[in-house]
This record gives sequence, structure tokens and C-alpha cells, in this order.
Amino acid sequence: MISIFPKKPSSSPSAVRASPAGSGPILSAEKLTVSFDGFTVLDALDFSLDRGEMRFLIGPNGAGKTTLIDVITGKTKPSRGRVIFDGWIDLARRQEHDLVRLGIGRKFQTPSVFGSLSVFQNLEVALGFRSSLGAQLKSLGAQDADRIGATLEQVSLTEQVNQRAGTLSHGQKQWLEIGMLLVQDPKLLLLDEPVAGMTRRERDRTGELLQRIVQDRSVLVVEHDMQFVRQLARKVTVMHMGKVLSEGSMEDVQQDPQVIKAYLGHGKQRPVKAEGEPEPAAGTSSTSLASSHRSSASATA
Ligand SMILES: Nc1ncnc2c1ncn2[C@@H]1O[C@H](COP(=O)(O)OP(=O)(O)OP(=O)(O)O)[C@@H](O)[C@H]1O
Ligand SMILES: [Mg+2]
Repeated sequence: MISIFPKKPSSSPSAVRASPAGSGPILSAEKLTVSFDGFTVLDALDFSLDRGEMRFLIGPNGAGKTTLIDVITGKTKPSRGRVIFDGWIDLARRQEHDLVRLGIGRKFQTPSVFGSLSVFQNLEVALGFRSSLGAQLKSLGAQDADRIGATLEQVSLTEQVNQRAGTLSHGQKQWLEIGMLLVQDPKLLLLDEPVAGMTRRERDRTGELLQRIVQDRSVLVVEHDMQFVRQLARKVTVMHMGKVLSEGSMEDVQQDPQVIKAYLGHGKQRPVKAEGEPEPAAGTSSTSLASSHRSSASATA
């Protein structure tokens, strides 16, 4: 475990109303408000994620999903509201580079692995044993080598351990990047469109991976692939225009008239690539909410 959690300061203004670390929700956003050039992107948004929960965050393009993750990770500062992590840490007061130390891992949509380094070396970089240019900074102890081995197994890349990351498939790069977060043992994992651009088989394996991951931590997944969400989600939060529009099981939210209305008229579906299978017909794509809704931004290469 390399995450070193800071001691709770007695003078923390958040401590007054906060719950003790280890109890209550892992993440709690209150009245979050973000505006860009006078345009409200998050509108007094309330959101809460339980410990050990995997939540799916869906919503039309521009709903504010990525902005919410940006606020959780300190990339964007809210004009109002706060985000409490692990019972007492006010994330709005933290910098982005504090995340790993706090126990939060974020994966952006586009895989950002070091292509000229091997799979193993990428995991060494994530653990701080190697620079991103490849230079060995410290020698790896047996415990850390074991941790890398276990992570490789978890993300199904054991056979590719010595392969250059740049030569991996798109899906394998996504898994490696998830592995680079897992090796840091985060309490909370934030994944923005993890199956975008994946083949069907890769998507299924990612689903299995997420189910393994959530056994030890909380996971928030932004996803447009509704078939994927339907397969995995117990609870879904639907965002629209910077607010939570609906929350509940996938069955419940997809029947919510407000949700259906929000999704209508949002452009074309983005089909999921299939291996040896024809693309799904419009309206039956795995990205559709019910049968006629839109999907997302462009897939990654
Ligand atoms: N840095 C920024 N400056 C100005 N406007 C921004 C900025 N970041 C996001 N926005 C706007 O905020 C709105 C919400 O964007 P956001 O990326 O959070 O949506 P999203 O729900 O993630 O959408 P998508 O599903 O397309 O990824 C959009 O209208 C976007 O154009
Ligand atoms: Mg987004």
C-alpha cells in the first residue's frame, strides 16, 4: 500500500459535519456549482457514492459528467459546494497531484501509457520506481514485484509483461492504464468511458475486470455504452444539464420519462466495434438507452 493517508487535522472546517474516516459514503458532493463563461455546467449538484459500490454515471453529451470528475479530482474548482472524500477530506481544497496519496485513481478516456516502455516498466513508473523516460530510479523489492505480478494477473496482461506498451491493442492499453492505477491501491477509482472503442470481447473482459476491482474499492464509471451499463450496473445516476435527473436501477431510469426526454434528439449512436459481427442497426446499438437515444463523443483510436 503506497497511499499514505494524511492525519485528520483538528482544525479542518470540514471535520465539524464530517463522518469519521472508514464510515459513511466514500464520496459525497454537496451543492456543487461550476460555470464556464457564465454557462452553468454543474448546477448545485448533490451526489453520493457508497463504500464498495460501483456506480455508473450516464447522461447526454455535455451533461457535466466529466466536469463532475474534474471537480472530484481537483482539476476544476467549483464556485460553490464541496466534495467530501472518505468522510472528512474536502477535495475542493486539494490539488490534482494529491490524488494518489489520498487514494484516488483517475483514468481518462484516451489511454495514456508510455508506449516505448514495456508493460512491466509502465507499472514500475506507476509505483515510482522508474521515470516516464525509462530510467530506473530505485530497485524493486520482492513485495513490489509481487504486487506488479498480481496486478498483471488482474488486468490479464501477464503474457504481455515484456511487450512494449505501444504495441498493445487499444483494449489492452486501457487495461494497462487501469493496472497502473490499481497498483497504487486506490480506495476510489474514477473511469471515464473505459470501454469506448473496444471490441465486444474486450468490453466483456473489461466488465469482468471491473467486477473484480470493486471487491476491494469503490468505482465510479462514466459510460455511454448502455449495453455494458445494463450488464453491470446495480445503480445508475443520470445527469442532465448539470443536475442529477434520475437515479436507480437501469430498468427504473430507462423508463423515467424525464430521462427519455433528455436523451431524445442527441444525435447519432456510437456503435461498439464487434469482432466478426455486423454493426448493430440504428436504434438497437449497445449504446442506446432504450431504443432511440443518442450516444457519445467519438471513440478513441
Ligand atoms: N474548460 C471548459 N471551458 C468551457 N466550457 C467547458 C469546459 N469544460 C466543459 N465545458 C462545457 O461544459 C459542458 C459539460 O461538459 P462535460 O465535458 O462535463 O460533459 P459530459 O457529460 O462529460 O459530456 P460527454 O458525454 O460528451 O463527454 C459542455 O457544454 C462543455 O462544452
Ligand atoms: Mg465527458
